[in-house]
Amino acid sequence: MRHLSVPSAQTQQWLERCRSEKWLAEHTGVSALEDGNKAIPLNDSAPQAGDESWMGNALVALEAKGKAPSHWSEHLDRELYEAHKDDWPKAYETQGDVLIVKIEDSIWPLAETVADAMLTQLPSIRLVCADLGVHGDFRVRDLHPLASRDGSVDTRTRIRENGYLLWVDASKVYFSARLSNERIETLATAKRLAARLNRGIVVADPYAGVGPSMGALLSEADLLTGYHTGDLNPDAFELLSQNIAHLASKRKTLDGSEPPVLDPATVTCSDATTWVDDEALRGSSDMLLVNLPHDSIEHLPHVLPLLRGDQTAVLRGWAIVERTQEAESQQRIEAAIAQAGHHIESMQFNEVKGFSASKSFVCFEAWLGRHD
Ligand SMILES: C[S@@+](CC[C@H](N)C(=O)[O-])C[C@H]1O[C@@H](n2cnc3c(N)ncnc32)[C@H](O)[C@@H]1O
Repeated sequence: MRHLSVPSAQTQQWLERCRSEKWLAEHTGVSALEDGNKAIPLNDSAPQAGDESWMGNALVALEAKGKAPSHWSEHLDRELYEAHKDDWPKAYETQGDVLIVKIEDSIWPLAETVADAMLTQLPSIRLVCADLGVHGDFRVRDLHPLASRDGSVDTRTRIRENGYLLWVDASKVYFSARLSNERIETLATAKRLAARLNRGIVVADPYAGVGPSMGALLSEADLLTGYHTGDLNPDAFELLSQNIAHLASKRKTLDGSEPPVLDPATVTCSDATTWVDDEALRGSSDMLLVNLPHDSIEHLPHVLPLLRGDQTAVLRGWAIVERTQEAESQQRIEAAIAQAGHHIESMQFNEVKGFSASKSFVCFEAWLGRHD
């Protein structure tokens, strides 16, 4: 296989050039040559030896490296890798074709090199961004583009979760793929409620983000008869509207007939705490999702009136609470439910594992009986 022989210090720069020109051979890696140069594997579309693109660097014939690198860090120069052994990112997150990675300050000058190695290793990734933390009222991530496969730095992308498609944009709207299991649980609860009521249900999802919970619920045949959904962040509202329109168009029924029109079917860009002022929304929903983890419990008195009081209804929410205050948090939820006139048939309050060590991320689910 033809390889481009380049001085070791220029390896990343040539790797980037070859990748952007689509000259890089896939499923193999950079080799070290005896003269200290590095050999970059080329595919058949790369120019011939002596082409001016190579700027005087030679092409050499080498056996393709037997085993393809299995980790992005194997594309880094070995000496460079060893020099910063403990500082390289150990994890990253992907949203569609966008990869998001936290870079330690100590290796920030090498951030583009990291991104380049990641693009080389991961063919499905278009854009690598550094995660600079969350900012603003809507707690969205401050992303800094590091390297792009095609020059585009747009963080908007489409993901597939549990079988449904969602438009997401990590620099504008909160979305966490880590919560996809919660969506599966939300669906299971909704199906239990529909079975209990012996009919389709109406769900309220006033902190919907891009609408992942709606993705799970709308994809289930014959489950929803309607929904009220929305988000205060205008960017979330835009993606949510687009996702709901797509999800609704893909609805199916168990008997293969045309799905009935969803009614209600509202998507709004508004503050959830004001929904209660709309008479049409009070007592409109069988199931309420409250996903504003830093403020869910405080918001409960404002959103609980959205639930029906004349039949069984379900509240499902998520909250971040101090580990030492779990019992107190559960009591505050129960008090808000009682204050809203509901009585609790059953209540679950469980930690969702894998978040912060100092605080708990909990999911609470209350089945509420009819108002007395
Ligand atoms: C933690 S995210 C949850 C998003 C979505 N449910 C999910 O699981 O991906 C909370 C969402 O609530 C929105 N939000 C914040 N305050 C709000 C409010 N007062 N009313 C409605 N939405 C709000 C944010 O913009 C954000 O999209």
